[in-house]
Amino acid sequence: MKKDGNIIIINAAEIATPRGRSARAGASMAALEVIPDGAVAVEGGTITRVGPTAQVMAELRAAGADLSTYETIDAAGRAVLPGFVDSHTHLVFGGYRAEEYAWRLKGVSYMDILQRGGGILSTVRATRAASAEELFALGRRRLDSMLAFGVTTVEGKSGYGLDRETEIRQLEVMAALDRAHPVDVVPTFMGAHAVPPEYKGRADEFVDFLLAEVVPEVAGRKLAEFCDVFCEQGVFSVAQSRRLLAGAAAAGLRPKLHADEIVPLGGAELAAEIGAVSADHLLHASDEGLRRMAAAGVVATLLPTTAFSLREPYARGRAMIDAGCAVALATDFNPGSCFSESIPLAAALAALCMQLSPEEIVTALTLNGAAAVGRAERIGSLEPGKLGDLVILEHPSYRFIPYHLGVSTVEKVIKRGGVVFDNLNHGGTRC
Ligand code: NIG
Ligand code: FE
Repeated sequence: MKKDGNIIIINAAEIATPRGRSARAGASMAALEVIPDGAVAVEGGTITRVGPTAQVMAELRAAGADLSTYETIDAAGRAVLPGFVDSHTHLVFGGYRAEEYAWRLKGVSYMDILQRGGGILSTVRATRAASAEELFALGRRRLDSMLAFGVTTVEGKSGYGLDRETEIRQLEVMAALDRAHPVDVVPTFMGAHAVPPEYKGRADEFVDFLLAEVVPEVAGRKLAEFCDVFCEQGVFSVAQSRRLLAGAAAAGLRPKLHADEIVPLGGAELAAEIGAVSADHLLHASDEGLRRMAAAGVVATLLPTTAFSLREPYARGRAMIDAGCAVALATDFNPGSCFSESIPLAAALAALCMQLSPEEIVTALTLNGAAAVGRAERIGSLEPGKLGDLVILEHPSYRFIPYHLGVSTVEKVIKRGGVVFDNLNHGGTRC
């Protein structure tokens, strides 16, 4: 009789995984472990053994394991990796902004659209008008799509309410999605995503409101693990971001930042100063900012699809790793600056436009993504004691992830030892 969460993957062309229980920084990002003819055993949802197939099977037999309780998958010709961690998304929102994308194609800038009451504020209007049921149904479809790309854990931000009620609704929807869907959802409170019309020109008072009226409830009800802020010229200043994140940290929400995305404002330096878990975007981060982030152990979360979509210069991924930073890679899926949940597109851009190697890209999508959501102890690598979250590629090497441009090479996804996506059921796409 098979038991839930028991699975053995055998004969894999390779097992490719970073190792560790915290982010890998600098040159160590390239140190993937690659085991030819590999196997992974998962018992009750947790990895128990990883190694060459013959060795793993011999160990299981020697330990007296009842192999009839395990599902067995023959992964011959296929690579096996940890499930991807998409550590920066805005997945719960109402409405879309296709017309705004068309304006941007004609040259109107992202920030101009926001200053005129569109952009994030347009999604705020649609999200305030959406019921929890509608947001849940949309979120579930988006998680299905992310899962097919090999994502087993995703971070999601609020920030399309900018009022107490809607911010809480977004976070409650994320909690419901986490319970209902195989993909784990890590919630981040981002009430400081923009200044709402009610507080136009009064960003400081809006920060006061968030700290007094929203953060205590979010933290008290454990609706979020992190607090994020759009630290940007014309949105929240460095001083306002510092004040918000300090107050949120005192309430138990760990800090993250949208930093130096549009102009160099000193977001990277602020992230280092306050010991943020991650600083994200960083298109215009200074050399000093990179040095300080490396020294402070802040994960630099890069979102190349956003730079692509906004036609902005890419963050200096190569320089960050060379400066000793730990880099994570995420999609930034949202309805405005980056309407793409595609992991392969982000990976290809990281390779071609940020000069990351395939090995660094795997580490950035797995262990370092896990560190950026505070879960590197439990996920992000294939090692005994970690969750049995993994992907089986339809190709024999991890190198196909950035190489197959914009096309997913994920054939199967396993979450806590159970198969939750199988592309062969969809006819497969092997090219
Ligand atoms: O990460 N820059 C701020 N926030 C998002 C975009 C959100 C939106 O445009 O709706 C970002 O780019
Ligand atoms: Fe974002």
